[in-house]
Amino acid sequence: MIFGVDYYPEHWDSSEWAAQEKLMRKGNFNAVRIAEFSWKKLEPEENTFDFSWLDKIIDVLAAEGIGVILGTPTAAPPKWLADKYDVYMRDKYGRPRGFGSRRECCSNNPYYTERSEIIVEKLAERYGKNPNIIAWQIDNEFGCHSSTRCYCDHCKKKFANWLRDKYGNIDKLNSLYGTVFWSQQYDSFDDVILPAYTSCEADYGDRRAHNPSLEMDFYRFSSDSWIEYEQLQADIIRRYSDKPITHNFMGHFSDIDYYKLAAPLDVVAWDNYVDNQWNNPAYENTSMAHELMRGAKHKNFWVMEEQAGPCGWDMFGGTPRPGQLRLWTYQAIAHGCDGMVYFRFRSAPFGMEQYWLGLVDHDGVPRRRFFEVQKTGAEIKKLSDMFVGAESPTDVLIVKSYEAVWSHKIKRHMSSFDYRELLYRYYKANNDLGTNPDCGSVNMIDKKYKVVYMPAYIIVTDEEKAILEEYVNGGGTLVLTHLSGIKDENNNIVTETLPGKLRGLTGITVEEFDSSPVDTQLSDGFGKACGWRDIIKTDGDVKVRYTSEYYSGSPAVTVNKFGEGSVWYVACELSDAALFKLVKMISDEAGAEYIPHPEGTEIIKRRSCDGREYYMLMNFTAEQKNMDMTGTSLINGSMFDGKIEPYGVEIINRKEQ
Ligand code: GLA
Ligand code: ZN
Repeated sequence: MIFGVDYYPEHWDSSEWAAQEKLMRKGNFNAVRIAEFSWKKLEPEENTFDFSWLDKIIDVLAAEGIGVILGTPTAAPPKWLADKYDVYMRDKYGRPRGFGSRRECCSNNPYYTERSEIIVEKLAERYGKNPNIIAWQIDNEFGCHSSTRCYCDHCKKKFANWLRDKYGNIDKLNSLYGTVFWSQQYDSFDDVILPAYTSCEADYGDRRAHNPSLEMDFYRFSSDSWIEYEQLQADIIRRYSDKPITHNFMGHFSDIDYYKLAAPLDVVAWDNYVDNQWNNPAYENTSMAHELMRGAKHKNFWVMEEQAGPCGWDMFGGTPRPGQLRLWTYQAIAHGCDGMVYFRFRSAPFGMEQYWLGLVDHDGVPRRRFFEVQKTGAEIKKLSDMFVGAESPTDVLIVKSYEAVWSHKIKRHMSSFDYRELLYRYYKANNDLGTNPDCGSVNMIDKKYKVVYMPAYIIVTDEEKAILEEYVNGGGTLVLTHLSGIKDENNNIVTETLPGKLRGLTGITVEEFDSSPVDTQLSDGFGKACGWRDIIKTDGDVKVRYTSEYYSGSPAVTVNKFGEGSVWYVACELSDAALFKLVKMISDEAGAEYIPHPEGTEIIKRRSCDGREYYMLMNFTAEQKNMDMTGTSLINGSMFDGKIEPYGVEIINRKEQ
């Protein structure tokens, strides 16, 4: 298993390299990722290249038995490049995203893409057959610093072509967008604007009040643009190297369609910062992100940057407690991580990230965090063949759609609605119950899942409808909710009775809805509905009813028999407790397996490549937990009696009760 660190040799005097790399070896690391921000050192002036330092560092690492994941340096272009032609992205006010940090260049700028191709080709040519290169990372975190959508003239031109390819003639676009509204008909594709600043923004803050079809296509186009840029680099590297090509994704980030971004890659990697200045440190949030990353390619993934210390940019998040770095490592493995790389080796004393601590402090002295990870590395080495390629059999899938993210962002329906939060709440309820669900695209739906959750799946294509019908016909249980099927592919409201294409499956009709900020009482101990409420009619079974408001007595949760299977419709947002109750009810009726476990813990059943089953037990709390499961520890061979220490991990062969 890859066990490594992110390393920036260019931040240190070369006289320090040998000692640092010895320490890496002591730390049990077998890989480093390097070079992803070193363009200026590699090409100090246009067409003048210097690979001598990189040659040397790769050799020094090879001498320590450490393989290299080589990053292409395109996320931080040198100043000569950025200044020579205007390559800066433009924000929605037309302002350049200027030099001074990173990720400021537009992937549709021809000069930037040309210079990117040249530097990537030089690297691939030189290191493509180097036996010490074990993988390639393309660029760094596409979209970081909210940089997916650009409003420059190059983007405007490319967008026009993108629209021309999609619609063929402008009348078709006008008709599908409904540009007749407010007299916005376009005369040609070149005429079509980018959804930048408009007069409405003054009234609505961040809501730009553009035509929703235009906004949707601009999301799609912007996502496609980065995927095209990634593909450009992947094609070049592939000509010279047969080593795995990856890119470091950002977990829950959703401005790029991660299913499509994953396609040109051999493996998905991602950057996992659990607790920092910005993040929600709930462990379920991290587990779900791991699952999404596995779902991106429906394959095990790598973590390319794992938190190694207290971190933030101008303020620190919490410092990892003793045990947490190890715990987070096993949490990743339990959810499908096949390669673990920590960010970063030694903390940088300078630059923007002087507060983003690595494994080793600024003074280069290894302390608690280093020793904890070192020990973890030794454990993992022994168990590597149990981990790499292992899977977690589960009966449950949660479907995420990037199109849905964008559509729900363009129009939020009501202030408390948040699609990603809703998905997370369904994930958390499942995690609490112990179903350990997969997360992925609608294309992952398969009869091996007993339950598929598709909360607020707003746009349903005909092909997707067919997938759902086949799944339910074959005996599956599908769970749909409010705000599903209400829009078409142009991001317009469907004119069929709601829920549109999902009417047959759900057996319901949405008669009205209530988005007023009051709580509605529910029957059967379900407490109250909060947020959106559909007021529906059904011929199917009613599981829960509203018991207040003018729609008291009407259904809130229904089940419809369809073919061999059934479709649940959850017409409203439920409280956490009610959602847990519902998820348990659905799992029990569908016969989905779950592993009960105490609050604040996870128990994940794993199956190694060669079919050996084992359980990973994790305690995310600061108290000892009793797991009600015993067995033999794979970590040290001792008998595990169920007691697990604060932030502890056990991996066991389970003793059957
Ligand atoms: C991201 C980047 C890294 C570094 C860390 C810490 O994940 O990929 O280069 O900036 O964040 O901020
Ligand atoms: Zn642009």
